[in-house]
Amino acid sequence: VETAHRAGMADVASEVLHNVGNILNSINIGTTQMSEMVAASKVDALARVIEMLDERREDLGTFLSEDAKGKHIPVFLSEVSALLQNERDRLAETLDGLAKNVQHIKNTITTQQSYARVSGMEEPASIQEVIEDAIQIDRASLEHHGVRLVYELEPLPPVQVNKQKVVQILVNLIKNGGYALAHSDEADKVLRLRLYRHGEDSLRIEVIDNGTGIAPENLTRIFRHGFTTKPNGHGFGLHSGALAAKEMGGSLRVESGGPGQGAQFTLELPCKPVVRS
Ligand SMILES: Nc1ncnc2c1ncn2[C@@H]1O[C@H](COP(=O)(O)OP(=O)(O)OP(=O)(O)O)[C@@H](O)[C@H]1O
Ligand SMILES: [Mg+2]
Repeated sequence: VETAHRAGMADVASEVLHNVGNILNSINIGTTQMSEMVAASKVDALARVIEMLDERREDLGTFLSEDAKGKHIPVFLSEVSALLQNERDRLAETLDGLAKNVQHIKNTITTQQSYARVSGMEEPASIQEVIEDAIQIDRASLEHHGVRLVYELEPLPPVQVNKQKVVQILVNLIKNGGYALAHSDEADKVLRLRLYRHGEDSLRIEVIDNGTGIAPENLTRIFRHGFTTKPNGHGFGLHSGALAAKEMGGSLRVESGGPGQGAQFTLELPCKPVVRS
């Protein structure tokens, strides 16, 4: 159990690193763009005008009203001003993107660390929050692939649950869903997350995508240890997810209409009342 637990956390950690790497890549592109903008800045043109005005300090009035170059200066200044404003706007925009990406990395790492720190034991937790944390870990990649997230989360009271296990299962389901969407031709790629109470004593979390779908003969195979259809896949995610769900007294199931029909994974968990220590 300890090994499986560590392997699960290692999966989440490697997913975090992978995503942070991707975000760093766009930060890198952003900083290069900003350097280029600064290098090509029109601010030097302004210095040249000031130099010219300085040289003609003695007869500035005549220069501005009668000299061919001098007469052009007001027009030129307003052109430079427009260019500089445009420059500033583009820099601000790129900087905004950079700040957003840095914040993104910070949130992702904080989330991962908070899960690495929890005991791996049952504790009171809000399932909605666990779902949002799991999404946070893959958010950049989902955004990158143009995936639209739809939340249908019933506001449930906190339950006694092993947060780490749930987040590990969800991170793999979300990552799988994102992959299926990234590799499908569907124009409106949707990843739907649902949470609802099922009967008196269980709750269900559904991760539904309209991606590549699963052939009927693979619906049971995908839970086998080592089954993968991805060039860099391990085929561990669903296997360990199903085991973890079982250990928690729940289950992990799949439905799919077949290739091109998307897939729906349902994680069912017992609703254990919170134990206050
Ligand atoms: N949402 C989905 N849509 C289509 N196929 C899926 C989906 N989720 C899983 N699969 C199929 O199930 C296989 C097994 O998934 P699993 O998560 O166990 O391993 P993996 O994603 O291939 O690798 P990893 O160990 O890195 O998670 C995938 O390779 C894929 O073929
Ligand atoms: Mg997987």
